[in-house]
Amino acid sequence: MFAIKVENLRKRFGNVVAVSNVSFSVEKGEVFGFLGPNGAGKTTTIRMLTGILTPDVGKVVIEGINLRENQIRAKMKMGVVPETGNVYIDLTAKQNLYLAGRFYGLPKNILEKKSEELLSTLGLHERRNDFVRTFSKGMKQRISIACAIIHNPQILFLDEPTEGLDVQSRRLILDIITDLNKKGSTIFLTTHNIEEANRLCERVCIINKGEIVAIDRPEKLRGTFDKTQSIEVSFDRSVNSDLFTSGFISKIEMYGDKLRLYTNDPDKTVKHIVALAEKKDLRIISMTICGASLEEAFVRLTGGEK
Ligand SMILES: Nc1ncnc2c1ncn2[C@@H]1O[C@H](COP(=O)(O)OP(=O)(O)O)[C@@H](O)[C@H]1O
Ligand SMILES: [Mg+2]
Repeated sequence: MFAIKVENLRKRFGNVVAVSNVSFSVEKGEVFGFLGPNGAGKTTTIRMLTGILTPDVGKVVIEGINLRENQIRAKMKMGVVPETGNVYIDLTAKQNLYLAGRFYGLPKNILEKKSEELLSTLGLHERRNDFVRTFSKGMKQRISIACAIIHNPQILFLDEPTEGLDVQSRRLILDIITDLNKKGSTIFLTTHNIEEANRLCERVCIINKGEIVAIDRPEKLRGTFDKTQSIEVSFDRSVNSDLFTSGFISKIEMYGDKLRLYTNDPDKTVKHIVALAEKKDLRIISMTICGASLEEAFVRLTGGEK
């Protein structure tokens, strides 16, 4: 059974088809990234998955529960961090958590314990009795996440959770997502940040103009267009690049004081460099294997838009 199963999802706003024919499944315990440029349809999709928006066509199944038929039961399984924060600024940090906890029907003793724990983990314990209106953007987002996970949801949905945040908040948020996932929760997050998707997600779905253009592991997506890798090496003295010419090296370039060798076979190339260095009595100062980038795949798949 999947944590999330989506079939043929479609949503139109007037003449704009925001999402068309979107189908995918997310396994239990997976960190699944929904990556796409602005206006691609990420927010529209996540809103349909969390029951905020009704799709024109299509089916959403959450932990085996059909969202349309049994909305409340499905919603109890999820935590949601929307694109625009959903915290109450006229309540204190603690009051926000209590409100969320009561919404999910948590007993008072568990709610107390869980709030204390989350406020500490998120570095907000000292500010627990302050009104959220006095908080920075990053602090508000931390409260938003705390409210979303107070009931230990089986699936956490986050819409661009770290967008425009300070480094400290960003780190805390990424840590708490990773931690929740380690404890078994499935994570579904949208982002237009390629590095973030690469770092967090086991699988990434790339969406462009409302349509899915690829779903795969980041490592595989990287290699979709460019199988060539390069090896950058520097020695203790200058060498003539012709020295390294070989059948499995397609191109050699000088990069400052380094040589860059392009190849489809990094294993052979590295061994070749080491052997030559040994023979010519060259000391290797540094050597790096550079892979094809996920950014390249993303730009190609989304038609040059970023
Ligand atoms: N409530 C709405 N009314 C009209 N158009 C909308 C609405 N929500 C989204 N759209 C349009 O749908 C498309 C996808 O938007 P969205 O899902 O917000 O993209 P993303 O989150 O990937 O940036 C955009 O063209 C956007 O302008
Ligand atoms: Mg969005």
